[in-house]
Amino acid sequence: MKTLLKLITMEMEEAFRAAGYDETYAKVSLSNRPDLCEYQCNGALAAAKAYKKAPIMIAGDVTAHLKESAVFSYAEAVNPGFINLKVKPAFAADFLNEMAAAENLGVEKEQNPRTVMVDYGGPNVAKPLHVGHLRSAIIGESVKRIARFKGNRVIGDIHLGDWGYQMGLIITELEKRRPDLPYFQEDYEGEYPSEAPFTIGELEEIYPTASAYAKENEEYREKALQATFLLQNGRRGYRAIWRHIMDVSVADLKRNYQVLNVDFDLWKGEADVQKYIPDMVQMLKEKGFAHYDDGALVVDVAEEDDNKAVPPCMILKSDGAALYDTTDLATLVERESLYQPDQIIYVVDKRQELHFVQVFRCAKKTGIVRPEVDLKYLGFGTMNGKDGKPFKTREGGVMRLENLLREITEEMMKKIMDNRTVTEEEAEATAQTVGLAAVKYGDLSNQASKDYIFDVDRFTSFEGNTGPYILYTIVRIKSILHKYQEGGGSIDGLRIREPGSECEKALMLETAKFNEMIDTVYEEIAPHKICAYIYDAANAFNKFYHETRILAEEDAEKKAGYIALLKLTKEVLETCIDLLGFEAPERM
Ligand code: ARG
Repeated sequence: MKTLLKLITMEMEEAFRAAGYDETYAKVSLSNRPDLCEYQCNGALAAAKAYKKAPIMIAGDVTAHLKESAVFSYAEAVNPGFINLKVKPAFAADFLNEMAAAENLGVEKEQNPRTVMVDYGGPNVAKPLHVGHLRSAIIGESVKRIARFKGNRVIGDIHLGDWGYQMGLIITELEKRRPDLPYFQEDYEGEYPSEAPFTIGELEEIYPTASAYAKENEEYREKALQATFLLQNGRRGYRAIWRHIMDVSVADLKRNYQVLNVDFDLWKGEADVQKYIPDMVQMLKEKGFAHYDDGALVVDVAEEDDNKAVPPCMILKSDGAALYDTTDLATLVERESLYQPDQIIYVVDKRQELHFVQVFRCAKKTGIVRPEVDLKYLGFGTMNGKDGKPFKTREGGVMRLENLLREITEEMMKKIMDNRTVTEEEAEATAQTVGLAAVKYGDLSNQASKDYIFDVDRFTSFEGNTGPYILYTIVRIKSILHKYQEGGGSIDGLRIREPGSECEKALMLETAKFNEMIDTVYEEIAPHKICAYIYDAANAFNKFYHETRILAEEDAEKKAGYIALLKLTKEVLETCIDLLGFEAPERM
């Protein structure tokens, strides 16, 4: 359905036309003086020059045509030529009733749904997840859900880092510890065991140990590089070990992402696309896109108006090894052949921007992707500690995801137990749910590209612009609806009525902004605007709640109208948090 702003604008256009002015001047925006009006139109000021007339005259001509308006209860021309507007209560109520009955709460789906791929998560197999991966997962999940809500075919791909040097390190360390295993016998021709010779716990210990050795010991590092090379060139025993590493780590990653409420459609990775590299390299050479520079095969991607030089895209190192650029290009080859996406959104740390500029230019220039494919890089900032530096553990190491979540959940648990009304068991489950919301909201409420400070105290607070505050508001609405039902009323099929107070109208207008807000969030790929919206909506609800006797209202119809409004507000808030990737508990 049309947005409220669209309907209001159409009404204004009609008035401009009727008064003899061009309707393109009839732009309406939210009022920046909410004490005076709800919406405003500054079009008369813009029209003054063209019509050689004082703006206030034009504004007056227009408002004269709004006296009988079905949309506005108030339309006044004020100096120097603003038009101040208030929406008719009945109009607002009708809009909300239509919204409550509409599919998708009035958000229109794409008329021509697109295939959108979201490349996010990007964990590196066998290495622990850190907070950078957390940001990618949180933001990517939300971006995916938003695109899907708008009716697109959306494919989320985790794009595992599963083909690099870390694999060679692990193999080297395992071989050192267990040279007897068949994987390391070059002449072994039998089947390999189906069980991995390590657990996830061991794997997590092996990687950092090997990585530390390699830093100190040249010989060890050489071995690890050699092992990486042999693995990539198909050595049988190494491939078998690699499979075990994959199985054990992917199982663990799946558990981790499930806790985060993050869910991928594809569990593909760098290893899956190696098979496309030889043909791709041949094509790049044959068509003259690639040339050798100092032994390395490169594709130039610099453009004339670059204000900073963009170095060539690296295809093969001088020793013939593929690089990060190569893998991302090969991934595009696969995506084009299997999915033909209209858009691919990469949710990756903003420090990787240059890499994506190179890859995108190379892919377009060489025809690896069709010209019309929209390649989008959504670079995110760093999550910092309170000292403003990248988030670290107390000991100064890289903060691991599980530990960070544990810290938040424990803090949440303390807060919930402080004013405990539920069993300890329920409190624990609630602490999990609310803790996750605290982390996700803390992250998503910032514009993705900005750095932000991870502040456990602030994020877990029940007051202010936080996840727990939003959840608390939803739980409060749920509880009112429950009580109404317990009193014998059904909450279905009730109609929202004309507002009887300022705060009720404010809540109604806030709720009514939902479909417009979602369209903006979708177009701009800006989940933070959902957070800004629900914070305003939650505030509007809480003001209404404090100023209104809802369940104690004696007029049954009036009360039913309140309940209908609350039900819709709850649906809007719940839809929003679902798009952000978290949910509300029943109680808290
Ligand atoms: N694995 C990479 C890292 O940890 C992120 C991968 C991002 N996605 C991509 N298509 N390059 O930095």
